[in-house]
Amino acid sequence: MMPAEMNLPFETERALGRLLSRLEVSLAAEISADPACWQAFQTRLGAHFPRLFRLYLELYVGHYDFFYHLEALLHLLARAAFARPADLRALDAQREADPHWFQSNQMLGGVCYVDLFAQNLAGIRGKIPYFKELGLTYLHLMPLFKMPAGDNDGGYAVSSFREVHPPLGTMRELAALARQLREHDISLCLDLIINHTASEHDWAKKAALGEPDYREMYGIFPDRATPDRYERTLREIFPDEHPGAFTWFPEIPAWVWTTFHSYQWDLMYANPAVFNHIAEEMLFLANQGVEIFRLDAVAFIWKQLGTSCENLPQAHLILQALNALTRVAAPTVLFKSEAIVHPDDVARYISPDECQLSYNPLLMALLWNTLATRDTNLLTQALANRFSLPEGTAWVNYVRCHDDIGWTFSDEDAARLGINGYDHRRFLNEFFRGRFPGSFARGLPFQENPKTGDCRISGTCASLAGLEKALLEEDPVEEALALRRIILLYGVVMTAGGIPLIYLGDELGVLNDYSYHDHPDHKHDSRWAHRPPADPVRAQSRHDPSGPVGQLYARFQSLVEMRKDRPEFAGGNLEVMDTQNRAVLGYARSNNGGARLLVFANFSEHPQVVPEAVLWQNNLMTKSCLLGEAGLQADGSLHLPPYDLAVFG
Ligand code: GLC
Ligand code: GLC
Repeated sequence: MMPAEMNLPFETERALGRLLSRLEVSLAAEISADPACWQAFQTRLGAHFPRLFRLYLELYVGHYDFFYHLEALLHLLARAAFARPADLRALDAQREADPHWFQSNQMLGGVCYVDLFAQNLAGIRGKIPYFKELGLTYLHLMPLFKMPAGDNDGGYAVSSFREVHPPLGTMRELAALARQLREHDISLCLDLIINHTASEHDWAKKAALGEPDYREMYGIFPDRATPDRYERTLREIFPDEHPGAFTWFPEIPAWVWTTFHSYQWDLMYANPAVFNHIAEEMLFLANQGVEIFRLDAVAFIWKQLGTSCENLPQAHLILQALNALTRVAAPTVLFKSEAIVHPDDVARYISPDECQLSYNPLLMALLWNTLATRDTNLLTQALANRFSLPEGTAWVNYVRCHDDIGWTFSDEDAARLGINGYDHRRFLNEFFRGRFPGSFARGLPFQENPKTGDCRISGTCASLAGLEKALLEEDPVEEALALRRIILLYGVVMTAGGIPLIYLGDELGVLNDYSYHDHPDHKHDSRWAHRPPADPVRAQSRHDPSGPVGQLYARFQSLVEMRKDRPEFAGGNLEVMDTQNRAVLGYARSNNGGARLLVFANFSEHPQVVPEAVLWQNNLMTKSCLLGEAGLQADGSLHLPPYDLAVFG
């Protein structure tokens, strides 16, 4: 809380003056070696310090050593600015001049695990031609930092933010890779895992040994008293792994806050030293060439007794303060929030001053929902009411990722359409586990919680869309439908507005990999079913039009080509159309008042018709068909084959 009587503009000015004069002394050598950098730093700091100071005050003014931490923060910020390589400084200037660069219809993301996709960083470099062939401009490499041996939550347990996991390569190689990707117009995205570190991170090890400065970075409690009080209001995130949010470590001995796995120790951001440490690691990584940080599990970063400890206002202040730091020392950087929570909460992370990008978990979940129900009502409602974003921000739209599918639609939205959220989630889980009569999906349950009835779904795009079942049953009709479902979902994410993100492997129809059952570290986590190693034979067959892989890949390429050809797909402006047919989703896209593109998506395995009136209203007659097999009928209506995605423009 800010002191009420404080004259903020005056104090901001005074604090900045005091701090700069101290920096001028301690950084005298750097300043005389690189006066231009110091000049630019001061200019940017002048612009962003008021925001940074206000946020830091709000978060930490109650600490007697507030000013010590603030000074340390500015120090590390200035040092990061001096350490920034020349090519990244040039990129900073370029991005500052074109802040909307990521809104372009040329943008296309891909995501993969370094080891599973290409063994190591050198292997990833070798895949650049493939990334170019696909049209990627943004590559998210899954966590590649030093991680514990054995179970490490797919790298989401970080032992050091400054070291690449040795089997994958080195930090120097990572910086070189970032540069090579950039030369090919591909921006590197990495995770910034800020909620927790691995229990074997140096900070955690020192905390376990009782060093006070480190102990205060984590939630470490001698007995159950405090954990019990917190747990009254906490949700269980990984109930399969441990009940509640704390783990007992007899060797300390203490209870440690572990929202996710026992080896992932939550950081306590109420301590300004934690904020400063994470800021320093972030700026270090930005200077290696990371352009986009995927901010992992942001909903959990602030804890407060008596609350769910999710999505608290201070979590936003932390992110905004980190954002302000990037504006000063690495303005290229964008944040992408990973908040897989209620859609109202997802939206709160998105702003130019917080996270410019956000996963769109609602669109993702509702795409799958619509495949199951063949009814576009929830999806249409979500696009109409929840898709529009503030200027200077964008969705990252996706179909699948390395995580499970959580049914994070809003119960209130569902109720408005007469749908009971709880029952409907049960239906979706049954459907995607393949247990509902007639289901084409082959998914797996994840973190089923008998206490709450909660469950999420694992599985690859192709297996969830019916390809696994069709191939197993050697059913060519179902196989063709499954391919159409995949293209339908990807067609929506490529055209809806924002950055489409391909979970690499989906473009080749990769199926579930059940071998995780045999892996001691993975067998308890069904998400490994959709994290198979890349299969070179499958990749080879992408050019063979006689098989499902080649057919799928060719259609993927047409989707990408169409997106890149039409500037109307830039930006995020989307207008929902009433297609007068519940099985058909319809929307129009335009950008800067240009032409209007029309998209129709048939979510049913049966042909559907859109009546003539809808077409007249939207001037469809004056447009040509850019994609799909839709055709006008004699009566003037539009005929859409099963699962057709039709685009007119
Ligand atoms: C994020 C990751 C997930 C991981 C969790 C804990 O949600 O996507 O894979 O398990 O964070 O780090
Ligand atoms: C929880 C978290 C989400 C994470 C997921 C991992 O749902 O809210 O952030 O991705 O767990 O499965």
